[in-house]
Amino acid sequence: MANKNSNLGAAKSAKKDEFYTQLTDIEKELRHYKQHFRDKTVLCNCDDPFESNFFKYFVLNFNRLGLKKLIATCYTGSPIANRQLSIFDVLGVSEKTEDKPYKAVVTTVYDKTGDGGVDMFDVAELFRTGENTLTELLGDGDFRSPECLALMDEADIVVTNPPFSLFREYVATLMEHEKKFIIIGNQNAIHYKEIFPLLRGNKLWLGYGFSGNVGFFESPYEDRAVSSQHKEGMIRVSGVMWFTNLDIKKRHEEMILVRRYTPEEYPEYVNYNAIEVAKTSDIPYDYSGEMGVPITFMDKYNPDQFEIIGISSSIANPMKQYAKLGTYQAGGPNFYTTRLNESDITRGYLYHREYDRIVIRNKHPEAPKEEK
Ligand SMILES: C[S@@+](CC[C@H](N)C(=O)[O-])C[C@H]1O[C@@H](n2cnc3c(N)ncnc32)[C@H](O)[C@@H]1O
Repeated sequence: MANKNSNLGAAKSAKKDEFYTQLTDIEKELRHYKQHFRDKTVLCNCDDPFESNFFKYFVLNFNRLGLKKLIATCYTGSPIANRQLSIFDVLGVSEKTEDKPYKAVVTTVYDKTGDGGVDMFDVAELFRTGENTLTELLGDGDFRSPECLALMDEADIVVTNPPFSLFREYVATLMEHEKKFIIIGNQNAIHYKEIFPLLRGNKLWLGYGFSGNVGFFESPYEDRAVSSQHKEGMIRVSGVMWFTNLDIKKRHEEMILVRRYTPEEYPEYVNYNAIEVAKTSDIPYDYSGEMGVPITFMDKYNPDQFEIIGISSSIANPMKQYAKLGTYQAGGPNFYTTRLNESDITRGYLYHREYDRIVIRNKHPEAPKEEK
């Protein structure tokens, strides 16, 4: 058994799926969604009830949000499961077996201990008295298992930080079961061929997010928290984002565009009929054609203002533009230094390769002004 567990542990750390979200980050994001939760059943399906701050957030805000029900399930072998409190401590089950996944179902939260406030002691007490229930799962707690899928079907909204390595499959499952959700993922997911069409088709969008897209997560791995950029016991993860399909105010905010289009400042690609816009904030207000913008545009995307046409990795990979000699950094990760042909050389041009670009169109561009 010990062997099996350590192998499982090794496999898990190879995938590095165990990062635990801080309560403050959950609070910062979820305050924008309060109106969605009244009378709803919330499922946290990658969350040990006694360890996850998602469970904690919802249970402690159960009445304020007006939730109908909260369900949390955990997964076999999570290295932090049972570390603080577990089903065995709460219900006094005598046979204490590590790695036993279970589900918590909460329908009532109040000051059970009578100490004047609601905290996790009340929650434990409400499980002990059977007013809320804590039961072992039949299987391993995998979100794809029939019993967990049945819980997903029962839920209105799924909220969690799922394992990054299963992100594609996780989102596909949510889509298949037509669920509303708020989940954490990596910025790279925007490029995934399974995820980008959902963003383009307005089936999924970005939430408010972490400051600078950097998050600090509690980590059980040994290589955590070493440099001055880290916090004790935490790992710094860059490119983390919230993904959701619940309507939020941000999605309807118009980007204020301040730049005027000029052919000199916005060169066309050589291999695709669009202009290059190197910074999202430089999108011109008066250009009606297609524009290549950085991936970070997605954070500002308002479907009433822009239409998403595609992504360079699938339409012209990579989109290329001419750049004058000296305007590129030779040897950098996103630049070609290869000369093209004789005429390019005499004209002093080189190919310049861009990062992945999202191709967009302004739905309501201003009419171009005549130069005086
Ligand atoms: C990134 S951690 C996040 C944990 C927690 N949601 C949080 O944010 O603090 C992902 C969690 O998913 C669990 N997990 C991994 N594979 C899973 C699966 N197939 N089904 C359900 N949960 C899984 C891991 O054990 C881990 O606890």
